[in-house]
Amino acid sequence: MENQLILGDNLEIMRQMPGECVDLIYLDPPFFSNRNYEVIWGDAGEIRSFQDRWSGGVDHYIAWLKERVQEMHRLLKPTGSIFLHCDWHANAEIKVFILNKIFGEENFRSEIIWKRSTAHSDAKQGRRAFGNITDRIFYYSKSADCKFNQVYTPYDEEYTDGFYKFVDADGRRYTLGDLTGPGGASKGNPQYAIMGVTRYWRYSREKIDQLIKEGRVVQSKPGAVPRYKRYLDEMPGVPLQDMWDDIKPLGSQAKERIGYPTQKPEKLLERIIQTASDEGDTVFDPFVGGGTTVVVADKLNRRWVGIDQSVQAIKVTELRLYNQRDLFSAPFVTKLHKYDYDTLRYKDAFAFESWIVQQVGGASNLKQRGDLGIDGRTREGAPIQVKRSDNIGRNVIDNFRSACERFDENLFHKNQDAGQPVGVLIAFSFGKGAVEEIARLKIQQNVIIKLMRVDEIVPIAKKPTLAVRLKDLGADEKGQRDIEFTAVGESQAGIEMYAWDWDYDESKGIFKPEILRDQTGVQTRKFKAGEYVIAVRVVDNDGLESDEIIRLKVNGKIKRG
Ligand SMILES: C[S@@+](CC[C@H](N)C(=O)[O-])C[C@H]1O[C@@H](n2cnc3c(N)ncnc32)[C@H](O)[C@@H]1O
Repeated sequence: MENQLILGDNLEIMRQMPGECVDLIYLDPPFFSNRNYEVIWGDAGEIRSFQDRWSGGVDHYIAWLKERVQEMHRLLKPTGSIFLHCDWHANAEIKVFILNKIFGEENFRSEIIWKRSTAHSDAKQGRRAFGNITDRIFYYSKSADCKFNQVYTPYDEEYTDGFYKFVDADGRRYTLGDLTGPGGASKGNPQYAIMGVTRYWRYSREKIDQLIKEGRVVQSKPGAVPRYKRYLDEMPGVPLQDMWDDIKPLGSQAKERIGYPTQKPEKLLERIIQTASDEGDTVFDPFVGGGTTVVVADKLNRRWVGIDQSVQAIKVTELRLYNQRDLFSAPFVTKLHKYDYDTLRYKDAFAFESWIVQQVGGASNLKQRGDLGIDGRTREGAPIQVKRSDNIGRNVIDNFRSACERFDENLFHKNQDAGQPVGVLIAFSFGKGAVEEIARLKIQQNVIIKLMRVDEIVPIAKKPTLAVRLKDLGADEKGQRDIEFTAVGESQAGIEMYAWDWDYDESKGIFKPEILRDQTGVQTRKFKAGEYVIAVRVVDNDGLESDEIIRLKVNGKIKRG
């Protein structure tokens, strides 16, 4: 499966995915609470989902989530695992009525307690309960044969100070371990003398000689029992437990922060992904939000799929992925509800032809194109030709008719006799001449050529338009100029957000914005004297986007290139 971000209700999308296709699922669904902070993006998709799960009490919420978790179970490979992130609102119901029922009590692995915030100090306001500062992450596997890579955390200082109290000349900390064989002769331990001391030892003579040669055996004074030097830096750490209080919530200045309260830290996802998957495995997040899971999966060389019902969530995730892209990054696709006319029309010809043939259920012609210009076949075997242009004329129809006949003469005549299409021609639009020629062929020769417009096959929309105005607000005492940028997008679908890349690299043409989600379109920024290339992106309600590049010269005054 390719790496993909998909816009839509996860239930519908999961139902179209094949079974046993993912190795790890992390889900952070909206919690059962009707608080306003639950609405992150505020766009149509998210509000719809919010209303969906809120039209009843907790039973309704559980039913809403349960049918989704049921699908997730189907999608997991037998060695796969699921991590379901929730809080106190419905954790009991989620465990008992959803996870135990679908995954089975025997596949419960851990209930992780994540300390997500510091102490609340609302006792003075009359709160009669302890502060809720933890989330739960339920970890279940599909079977006992699940992947599990032990993760270790560093020892705490008190332990290392007390236990690893010796320090080598080169600064390495160590402790002294027992070399004698527990159980003596009865356990088959060998007896011999080392450093003048005879005992039953836990290793063979050769092994101990080797350790002595390496300086790993020490004797505190003549006659004392030799001991083994165990270095702290060779120990893996403490096996991870189910209480996670070492991953801090995102601070307001955190670099990864997008700007909504329930965004999860990358460290949390790193730990989960490392525990339950290997490189090359597929990680799936059906409530991808700001994209933390897929961003981390991508960094850790996992494949990934993320779904969200909110356009903003999908677009912010996409931008986060662009921001971390390098030469080695795997490609990904974003699947929206609509396709943008310009991108399809001017897309790489071969890629477009293959893709559109597949959209009509045909098989694309993977071989080098012959001079007949046939791009694929329908399920019934009839030839398909794709024209990436508008207003197709009469001559194209005639040429295609001849190509169909030469392509497979028997099939052509069989279809002609049966009154079935002899071929399918796909284009953005057809001119009057083409339509008349189709009618003539049918009437005079009983030859049917099926015409299909791209917008009948996939929903198409126009990209939003974008204009950006600049206003010089004057210089500050250091001579830096304050500039106000106002971006105005227009789209029939409505505008969702803007993103700003203040240092756009034109040679690479990759948009890497510092501001990922601006809902006003107005930004003010200081500029020293110099030349700048700035890129602004507008995203509409369908997720379609347009960019504007601004070349700016600042030198006492501002000049737009
Ligand atoms: C709590 S957020 C996820 C936050 C994410 N873990 C992060 O760190 O950024 C929940 C997300 O679920 C999305 N959502 C809610 N209902 C959905 C549905 N039925 N299908 C797909 N996404 C949905 C919301 O739009 C929201 O972005």
